[in-house]
Amino acid sequence: MKDAERMTDTATLDDRTYHSIKDLIYEKCGIKLGDAKKALVAARVRKRMRELQIFSHDEYLQNVLGDETGMELVLLMDSISTNVTSFYRESGHFEIMESNLRKWADEGQKRFRFWSAACSSGEEAYTMAFTVKQALSGAYDARILATDISTKVLGLAHQGVYEEEKTLSIPPDIKGKYMEKVKSGDKAFFSVRPDIREMVLFRRLNLTEMPFPMKGPMDIIFCRNVMIYFDKDLRRRLAVEFHRLLKPGGLLIIGLTESLIEISDGFTRTGPSVYTK
Ligand SMILES: C[S@@+](CC[C@H](N)C(=O)[O-])C[C@H]1O[C@@H](n2cnc3c(N)ncnc32)[C@H](O)[C@@H]1O
Repeated sequence: MKDAERMTDTATLDDRTYHSIKDLIYEKCGIKLGDAKKALVAARVRKRMRELQIFSHDEYLQNVLGDETGMELVLLMDSISTNVTSFYRESGHFEIMESNLRKWADEGQKRFRFWSAACSSGEEAYTMAFTVKQALSGAYDARILATDISTKVLGLAHQGVYEEEKTLSIPPDIKGKYMEKVKSGDKAFFSVRPDIREMVLFRRLNLTEMPFPMKGPMDIIFCRNVMIYFDKDLRRRLAVEFHRLLKPGGLLIIGLTESLIEISDGFTRTGPSVYTK
C-alpha cells in the first residue's frame, strides 16, 4: 500500500465534520443519519477520498461543497444510501398487483402506468414487469417508471444483468420466460429479456424534490423501504404527491415495516402496507 493510501485509511472523522456531512445528507436526500452511523459513513467515503488523494474528511467535505457540477454530492449520496433489495421482495405485494391488473383488464382498461420510486438496482421494477406480463394478455400499453437517487444503482438497473444467486427468489417458470442465462468466465448471470426491459424506464429522481415532474394518473406506485429513512414531515409531503399522481382506486404500496398512520388520511388501507386512493 502506498503512503498516501495509508494516510487516507487511517484518517479519522471528527464529530464536527461528521455533523456537517450528516446535515448535508439530510438536507439533500432526506436521510436522517444517527450518531451511531459515524463509523459507517467514515468507511464509506474513504474509498472516494483515496481516489481523490484526499487525506482528511474535512478536506473531503470542502471538496463536495465546492464542486459546482454537483457530481461529488451525487457520489457521496451513492456511497451513503442503503440499496438492499431483491426480486419478489415482500412477494405478497406482487400477488396484489397481479389480481388488480386482471380486474382492471377485465373492466376494459388497456393503458397502465406504474412507478417504482426508490428502485435501487432494478429488481423491484423488473418484478413489476414480470407481473404485468403474467397478468395481461392481448394488446395493452404498460409502462413502468423506475427512479432512485443513486446513479450507481441506476446503472446496474439499466444493465439488467444479475448474478445467478440474486435470481434464486424468482420462480423458475418466470425466470425461464423472462430472463436469459449468460456466462462470464465460470460465473453464471441472468439477463432480463429485451421485451421486459423495454417496458421499464430508469431515471434519477430525488424523492425530497417535490413536486415531481410527472403528471399521472398512475395505477400503482411502489415506494418501499425508503420512507423509513425520512422524517414525518417529508413522509407527509410524499404522501400528498403520491395521492396527486394516483388514479382514484389506484394503489400505493409501501414497505411491510412502514405505515401511513399519522402521515395521510387520503388513503384506505386494503392489505398489509397496501393503500388505495
Ligand atoms: C433499501 S432500498 C429499497 C429498494 C426497493 N424499493 C425495495 O424495497 O426492495 C432504498 C433505496 O432508496 C434510495 N433512496 C434513498 N434516499 C432517496 C431519495 N431521497 N430519493 C430517491 N431515492 C432514495 C436508495 O438509493 C436505495 O436504492
